[in-house]
Amino acid sequence: MYINPLLVTTGILASMVMPVYTITPQELIRAPLLRNEHAMTLLRRSVNESKFRKREQLINANGREYLIQVSVGTPPQLFNMTLDTGSAEIWVPTTKCPKKVCPYERFDPNKSSTLTVLNEVFSIQYGLGNAEGVYGQDTVSIGTTSVSNQKIGLVNNTKDILGVVSDGTQSNGIFGLGYPGLNSARGVKNDIPFAFHLMQQQLSFFSIYLTNSHQTKSSSSSGGGEIIFGGVDKTKFSGELIYVPVIDYDIQHQHVSPNVGKKNGTRQGGTYLYWTVPGQGVSTSKNYTHTTNDVVPFVLDTGTTMTYMPASVVKGIVQSISTKKKPVFDVFNSIYQVDCSLRNNKRDSVHFQLSTSKTEKQQQPLDISVPVSELIIPLDTNDLATATSCMFAIAPAQPSDSLSSAPTWLLGEATLRAVYTVYDMAQNRVGLAPYSPHDNTTSSSSSAENNIQNPNNQQQQQQQQQQQSSASSIGRSSVITLGFIVLVLTL
Ligand SMILES: *[C@@H]1O[C@H](CO)[C@@H](O)[C@H](O)[C@H]1NC(C)=O
Ligand SMILES: *[C@@H]1O[C@H](CO)[C@@H](O)[C@H](O)[C@H]1NC(C)=O
Ligand SMILES: *[C@@H]1O[C@H](CO)[C@@H](O)[C@H](O)[C@H]1NC(C)=O
Ligand SMILES: *[C@@H]1O[C@H](CO)[C@@H](O)[C@H](O)[C@H]1NC(C)=O
Ligand SMILES: *[C@@H]1O[C@H](CO)[C@@H](O)[C@H](O)[C@H]1NC(C)=O
Ligand SMILES: *[C@@H]1O[C@H](CO)[C@@H](O)[C@H](O)[C@H]1NC(C)=O
Ligand SMILES: *[C@@H]1O[C@H](CO)[C@@H](O)[C@H](O)[C@H]1NC(C)=O
Repeated sequence: MYINPLLVTTGILASMVMPVYTITPQELIRAPLLRNEHAMTLLRRSVNESKFRKREQLINANGREYLIQVSVGTPPQLFNMTLDTGSAEIWVPTTKCPKKVCPYERFDPNKSSTLTVLNEVFSIQYGLGNAEGVYGQDTVSIGTTSVSNQKIGLVNNTKDILGVVSDGTQSNGIFGLGYPGLNSARGVKNDIPFAFHLMQQQLSFFSIYLTNSHQTKSSSSSGGGEIIFGGVDKTKFSGELIYVPVIDYDIQHQHVSPNVGKKNGTRQGGTYLYWTVPGQGVSTSKNYTHTTNDVVPFVLDTGTTMTYMPASVVKGIVQSISTKKKPVFDVFNSIYQVDCSLRNNKRDSVHFQLSTSKTEKQQQPLDISVPVSELIIPLDTNDLATATSCMFAIAPAQPSDSLSSAPTWLLGEATLRAVYTVYDMAQNRVGLAPYSPHDNTTSSSSSAENNIQNPNNQQQQQQQQQQQSSASSIGRSSVITLGFIVLVLTL
């Protein structure tokens, strides 16, 4: 887990010249995820239904990351890419990348009639890993929905991203869902992420849920979860969605500084970068509570396995839920090794508190409850059920992890599995509700209008997760920390 430092200088935003894009067809896209260990084939759902009923599967790669099948070029070349809300670029390995470095399917530029190779260097640094090459523009499709002239990275070299795990479905590229500002702030022009292109077609939000494979048995939907562009699936959460605002950042000064808290939360004219929401604390069902002094930024990142928080907070959480067998802090890897029997602890939970305001903490914050059993990751085997060495999915953020001048609170996929999330690009807000699938074979999606709820409805939060705790198979080597882009502002 080596995280490169965040280098920040004074930033300027390049003025945008918009190329012409066409997007087809004008309808919602559902992209199911599936988990690789038990479902080795993509379970495609039929896409014939009403215009608001199109879904594609996502692939849950051993609970370490979630993949989406994306096609690039004409005729289409297919890639299983990491679904990543913590970055905003799309890239694929190409035939220019040696097989040793890019061992899976490689995009052959010569075989795409719609590709334009641009004379611009592509270079990206993630929390862990990097990729480089040149930029191109080509048709990118998910299911039958395509964006033409989508800017993509044509990668000829990469490190610590492809082939980092020993088995299962492999990530073969990154599919970024972060704000366009993450690209423009780095000086990359006209680089609008796929999801944001879809806004032109009234697909102004997308929703995501992440599951594990053991929940698929009787469900009509797929194993790994789904991303749905332009819709929400009411059969996958309980209660109503509660909305929290997305926090923008001041990038005009020396630091990338989130516009959050009593003072900075009122600042205007910031840039949206990450899917960052207001947080105000964390607690456990076992007598640990940490309330922040002010509202702080929590980054929602589907591309990172772990959840990162200030060290003292993580220590408090780990100690409060620990068994007789005391947790051990592994200094080298900066993680806590914990008693594997905690995999059976569905009674206790860790609670993350979000505020519905950028400036004020709430008396009744939105509470994300994650059972302790969901936060245990096996170290000595891929199978949690038989592991004898385990780590805790919440770890101390290193100073070098920092995404901004504020302390890092990053909610990764182990935590995000507990919630159904709606990423609203048009209104810059995120809707959340406890993930809670209830089978309904006849109706599993509908239009936004019918389902997007009023954010200000104060709802009783469902503490009781119906999620089955299953043996998420996450090997040591398979913990992915790459999921957020390291923002390097350029002059
Ligand atoms: C994506 O992953 C699925 C599930 O493992 C697999 O069936 C499919 O062939 C993969 N697609 C590509 C393009 O690698
Ligand atoms: C979708 O296809 C299935 C099977 O082909 C069919 O039974 C169903 O009526 C179709 N649904 C719609 C809305 O066309
Ligand atoms: C692709 O085209 C270029 C230029 O025409 C050529 O040099 C290269 O060998 C081709 N690559 C493949 C894999 O065919
Ligand atoms: C890969 O792309 C980078 C950036 O465009 C370039 O500097 C480098 O020479 C390329 N390497 C190869 C092997 O093509
Ligand atoms: C508010 O923003 C300023 C300027 O970017 C920064 O120096 C300061 O640390 C921020 N304050 C808080 C509480 O985040
Ligand atoms: C909770 O923690 C406080 C302070 O450490 C302690 O006094 C109290 O006994 C604890 N309560 C329980 C139920 O463990
Ligand atoms: C499933 O969906 C159908 C159609 O929307 C609805 O009539 C039915 O009540 C639902 N069943 C359950 C168990 O929610």
